[in-house]
Amino acid sequence: MDLSLDGKVALVTGAASGLARAVTTTLAAEGARVAGADLNEAGVKSVMEELSGGRGYRLDVSQRDSWSELVRTVRADLGEIDILCNIAGPAPASPSGHLDTDDDEWHRQIDGHLTGVFLGCQSVLPQMIERRYGKIINMCSFTAHGVSANIPGYDAAFGGILAYTKDLARFAAPYNVNVNCVSPGNIETPMTQGWMSEPGAYERVRERTLIGRVGQPDDVANWVVFLASDRAQHAVGIEINVSGGQLIA
Ligand SMILES: NC(=O)c1ccc[n+]([C@@H]2O[C@H](COP(=O)([O-])OP(=O)(O)OC[C@H]3O[C@@H](n4cnc5c(N)ncnc54)[C@H](O)[C@@H]3O)[C@@H](O)[C@H]2O)c1
Repeated sequence: MDLSLDGKVALVTGAASGLARAVTTTLAAEGARVAGADLNEAGVKSVMEELSGGRGYRLDVSQRDSWSELVRTVRADLGEIDILCNIAGPAPASPSGHLDTDDDEWHRQIDGHLTGVFLGCQSVLPQMIERRYGKIINMCSFTAHGVSANIPGYDAAFGGILAYTKDLARFAAPYNVNVNCVSPGNIETPMTQGWMSEPGAYERVRERTLIGRVGQPDDVANWVVFLASDRAQHAVGIEINVSGGQLIA
């Protein structure tokens, strides 16, 4: 299937690592011009240098000023943004249980995930509305459905992202802007490699993944990039669960 992303400008947050890094590669393979942004400036610049036409930028998703500067620079460098993939986010601290989570960790999770998605959408949406064209894909998680994991700030942030995605989708659709989200299960990335390497953990994830193997970044990236294309024109406010069956196990 041809996704026809030739010449489209895509902005991807969290692009130094994991899921977002895979999304930048797939977008570029489909012909998009990709701007990757991350708190890890050196990391994202080195990842984006490997992509034809890729550009890397520093961004702290939780800061409005950082978004303003990024969007201004990307528009000057690459042109109007057609596709926004909000994927950046911090790993939960350890310990992070219901009685251990302190105020700092709570706010770090809410700010790094939920506020980051809100600021990203609000920074890019006005020019999408003006052009009557846009695709926004927010990274969510199966933890939005209460399947996890004793990590309250993280889980609550994704519950918020799911609700916000649907609410924004309703507002944006009349302007030909599609807003949707993708909710992975446990995917093997730098964020999960620490706890997945503890004794027995990888095998437990594999057993709970009905498809029989632990999810990889490309399993998620393919769905994100499909939602970024006009093939997904009728997808409005949907959530794609990509968990290999973990959600129903
Ligand atoms: N890996 C999984 O199993 C999984 C499952 C569901 C959801 N998610 C979510 O998907 C997103 C990406 O996860 P991943 O596994 O690729 O993680 P990762 O740790 O590999 O990558 C996250 C990236 O986000 C960047 N980042 C963190 N805080 C930032 C900030 N304030 N501003 C800008 N960049 C920031 C990091 O520098 C890093 O490059 C996260 O929000 C994660 O919670 C991951």
